[in-house]
Amino acid sequence: MQLVCAFNFSTLEEMVGLVEGARAKNSPVILMASLGAVKYYNNSLELIANTAKGLAMAYPDVPICLHLDHATDLEQIKQAVVCGFTNVMIDASKESFEENIRRSKEIADFAHNHSPYGINGCSVEAELGMLAGHEDEVHVEESGKAYTDPSLVHEFVERTGVDALAVSIGTAHGYYKAAPKIRFDLLEAIRKETDVALVLHGGTGVPEEDFRKCVAMGMSKINVGTGLKKIFTDGVKSAIKPEENDPRKVVGPGRQAVAAAIEANCDLFNCTGKTPYVLKSIY
Ligand code: 13P
Repeated sequence: MQLVCAFNFSTLEEMVGLVEGARAKNSPVILMASLGAVKYYNNSLELIANTAKGLAMAYPDVPICLHLDHATDLEQIKQAVVCGFTNVMIDASKESFEENIRRSKEIADFAHNHSPYGINGCSVEAELGMLAGHEDEVHVEESGKAYTDPSLVHEFVERTGVDALAVSIGTAHGYYKAAPKIRFDLLEAIRKETDVALVLHGGTGVPEEDFRKCVAMGMSKINVGTGLKKIFTDGVKSAIKPEENDPRKVVGPGRQAVAAAIEANCDLFNCTGKTPYVLKSIY
C-alpha cells in the first residue's frame, strides 16, 4: 500500500491551496472537510463536493479525493456519498464496540453501493480506539482517550467491511503540550491483524522521524489539520495593510502559504511523483 497525505481545510480558498501544493509535487491529495467546514458553508455538502469536482476538472493531472472527516450523523454521511465525496469517515469511536460495528457497517454498505462513481466508488474509514485532543468539532479529554486494541481489529474490519481504519496509538488532535509518545508496538500488532489502510490522525506536531517510522511500518494515510489553519491565517495576517482593499491580495498569501506547506509535506511523506493507490480520485 502507498501513503497518501490528507489535509483538512476550513475554507474553499484553502482547498485551492491544497490542490496547488499537491500539483506542484505531482502528488495525489486527499481534501478533508471537517464538520466545522461543512457547518461554515451552511451544511452544504453540495457546495463542497462541487468545488472539489471543479478543482478536479481544472487540474485533471492531480488525483483528488474528497473526504468527510469525523462525521457522526449517518444521514449526513449518506448525503455526502450521494453528492460525490470519494471517502467518508464514520466516527462512532465513542460508542460501544458493537454499536461502532453497527454504524460503521451501515455506512460501508451504503457507501459501497450508492456512490455516483459506481460500486465501491466511495471508500469508508472508521475509528477503533479514541484519540485525545481537540480539533474543530472533535473533543476528547485526555482521560477519555483509549488506545486501539489490536485483538479487536480483525473482527471489527471483517464485520464492518470498512476500507480504512483510524487507529489510536498515541497521537492526539490539535497542538501537543509535550512530544507525542507513539506506541509503535501497537502499530506493529495492528498491522498484523488486517490488510486495510491504516490512518494516523493528529498529524500536526508529530516529529518527522516518527512519521517516517509509521509509514515504514505500514501507515497509509496521515491526517494533518490544525497546523494548516495557522499557516493559512498567518499568511493572511502578513498581507493585511490598512490601505489594502483587494481581498485577493489579502487572502492570496494565505493560499500560497498553504500550497507551500503541502509541497513540504509531500516531500516529507514521500508522496512526490506518486499516483494514488489506496483511494480513488474523483475523476
Ligand atoms: P491535527 O489537527 O492534530 O493535525 O489532526 C488532524 C486530524 O487528525 C483530522 O482528522
